[in-house]
Amino acid sequence: MPTRRLSVSIVGLGYVGLCTAVTFASRGFPTLGVDIDSRRIKAIEKGETPFHEPRLDRLLKRGLRSKLLRVSDDASSAAEAEAIYIAVGTPSRRDGSINLEYVEGAARQIGASIRDIHGYRLVIVKSTVIPGTTSSKVKPILEENAKKKVGPQMGLCVNPEFLSEGTAIRNALYPDKLVIGASDEQSGSRLRKIYRAFYGGKLPPTIMTNPETAELIKYSSNAFLATKVSYINTMANLAQEVPGVDVESLAEAIGLDPRIGPLFLRAGPGYGGSCFHKDLQAIISYGRKVGYEPTLLREVEQVNEQQAARVVGLAESLLGELNEKRVAVLGIAFKKDTDDIREAASLRVIDLLRKRGAQVVVYDPMAMPNAKAVFEQSVEYATSPKAAINEADCCIVMTEWDEFRKLKAKDYAQLMRSPNIVDARRIYEAADFETVNFRAIGLGDRMS
Ligand code: UDX
Repeated sequence: MPTRRLSVSIVGLGYVGLCTAVTFASRGFPTLGVDIDSRRIKAIEKGETPFHEPRLDRLLKRGLRSKLLRVSDDASSAAEAEAIYIAVGTPSRRDGSINLEYVEGAARQIGASIRDIHGYRLVIVKSTVIPGTTSSKVKPILEENAKKKVGPQMGLCVNPEFLSEGTAIRNALYPDKLVIGASDEQSGSRLRKIYRAFYGGKLPPTIMTNPETAELIKYSSNAFLATKVSYINTMANLAQEVPGVDVESLAEAIGLDPRIGPLFLRAGPGYGGSCFHKDLQAIISYGRKVGYEPTLLREVEQVNEQQAARVVGLAESLLGELNEKRVAVLGIAFKKDTDDIREAASLRVIDLLRKRGAQVVVYDPMAMPNAKAVFEQSVEYATSPKAAINEADCCIVMTEWDEFRKLKAKDYAQLMRSPNIVDARRIYEAADFETVNFRAIGLGDRMS
């Protein structure tokens, strides 16, 4: 067992908070996870994970068994720990701007509960917040409720996370960087000390900066990744119009340039997930507020939004009118290996298909319960990929699940009413699908 570790508490056991909590416990830190949702806490206490994430289940059970991880629905207990992370959600308001009520509420409760504590407490904002939030909102709320000033008795840092769904535990254990935005020197050096213990003495590359810069780094990172996706989708849409041109060769070639890099250049139906759209909207709205219109980011979002119509357009190029056609959608999740359908491109595509009068049948290996909650009776639900394509007029592959790769051209030909396939994720080799009607994002139509 490692030497004594500082204790940490994490307020907000959503995706980021829970993954962070289990990794702290796994590295020997006494960890307290706090969430106001008592049903969620009861489930977590029993070792049940509220969402799917590889390795989370094992680390949660191990943390609870070792007693290094405890959970509570009492927010005031967070101040028991020396380092207190705020990891609550920052959803969008209707106009796209950020809703900070949970961050402010957490700051209020944390402040109130450290009021009577004599020792030093370090508060760390892990939630994604727009620049200025920590200094101009969190800090005064903490100080007012704690009746202490940030400085000798209380520390405050911004420490954004860069966890991707599906690899969150690996990302937390082996990050490519740490970003620490410290309100003062002591706060920063205390947080570095925690991470030195966490990472076994050797810190990952660490950017030490002020809170505002740390806050903006998080948005810049997500906005850049989203820009890469919209960029390659723009190239894909151009490529698609030229017979014989393939965006995959293009992406491979430009990716070899170290100034561009090979990652995040997979053309597809547009990005989804809980972060990109929400964060872009928040930073666009923030830009407007401070007097700068970030037109590039607005276009990134618009390209993404329009990509759904490109996918449906491919189906129409094969079928003509979609009215009363049976269209199978394979994959609802926003990417493979998750049950998350938030902002998934499939939602936009299914919406358009329904507006054009198509009869939609869907299948996803993991996301069916979430899909049912959204679509209710408006679509049909199949129990397997083959059942979904059975008697369909068209099939659109929306998520790159491995199990969809097993379907061969002959399966489509045998099962479908007419074998029209739109590969919106580029999971198939066009050469293997010459016997059926096949279109793919970023692939110019066959040369006749
Ligand atoms: C993202 C960021 O990667 C992560 O650093 C941040 O903390 C949270 O947001 P995540 O939402 O889990 O993580 O998904 P990610 O793997 O980044 O993919 C986002 C979307 O972009 C998915 O819909 C994915 O299918 C799409 N995408 C990604 C592409 O269409 N093409 C690509 O080349 C890469």
